[in-house]
Amino acid sequence: MSFRARHLLGIEHLAPDEIRAVLDLAERYVDLNRRTVKSSDALSGMTQINMFFENSTRTQASFELAGKRLGADVMNMSVAQSSVKKGETLIDTALTLNAMHPDLLVVRHPNSGAVNLLASKVNCAVLNAGDGRHEHPTQALLDALTIRRAKGRLQRLTVAICGDIAHSRVARSNLILLGKMENRIRLIGPPTLMPSGVGEFGCEVYDEMKEGLKGADVVMMLRLQKERMDGGFIPSEREYYHRYGLDAEMLAYASPEAIVMHPGPMNRGVEIDGEIADDINRSVIQDQVEMGVAVRMACMDLLARNLRAERGAKAVGTLV
Ligand code: CP
Repeated sequence: MSFRARHLLGIEHLAPDEIRAVLDLAERYVDLNRRTVKSSDALSGMTQINMFFENSTRTQASFELAGKRLGADVMNMSVAQSSVKKGETLIDTALTLNAMHPDLLVVRHPNSGAVNLLASKVNCAVLNAGDGRHEHPTQALLDALTIRRAKGRLQRLTVAICGDIAHSRVARSNLILLGKMENRIRLIGPPTLMPSGVGEFGCEVYDEMKEGLKGADVVMMLRLQKERMDGGFIPSEREYYHRYGLDAEMLAYASPEAIVMHPGPMNRGVEIDGEIADDINRSVIQDQVEMGVAVRMACMDLLARNLRAERGAKAVGTLV
């Protein structure tokens, strides 16, 4: 198995064979998670701390379940009740927790780059659970697994990523991952919600849904990230839905076998019609949630193996 990373900070740092290693191991955890007894000892004796400085349902719950199913001692730091509220910095908080000898630190933070900075200060493995607009690597990996299972491959697909691209770490991580796996990527959204320098990623850019969706195999809808907006990016939600919302009529422009994805949380009636989101013949949104647990189990298992190997090598070095 080929996975060399010390931390999981972004897709940017992963090679295609490392991505495949995560997905292949995650397949085994999908099977485990469907059994009555869902336990493994892959993280036995290890301590996992989850630090979420931003709200989360899916990522926080699935990292917690993943750690528990792998046999780790899992601690969720409650940021609202922590000394962060007394002015303690992210780095001081991380150094304090690091002194308690965790093995895995899972961090979500509103600032891009905060998780990378933190990883340079601690001596455990760090997993990025989403940092600002930068990256959300486990989301892209769970999306990749969902696509691979639904379409039977992860190459040569036309993937349309639609909506608020500018503020989305999900879009960025997916763009990088799907590009590394040689897919054709189209970004669709109003020019106000396209990041500058978008051309660097080698994707096609559309501001008309009907054009961009033509023949797409995968339609990935994104939420308007209002918490990261500081101005009028859209005229109104009603107009936005009319031009960029996905309903049955709009989906008809994509391939007849196209799957519909959304990382969640969804805003029904803003970027996606509720009936499409719930249509089990087209929507794989609940599969994405299921794959999230398996992918996070695989990522933590692989990082733990590397950590054990590194510590073993150090211990041997000390003896010699
Ligand atoms: N997709 C995602 O990151 O969802 P949460 O914010 O609920 O974790």
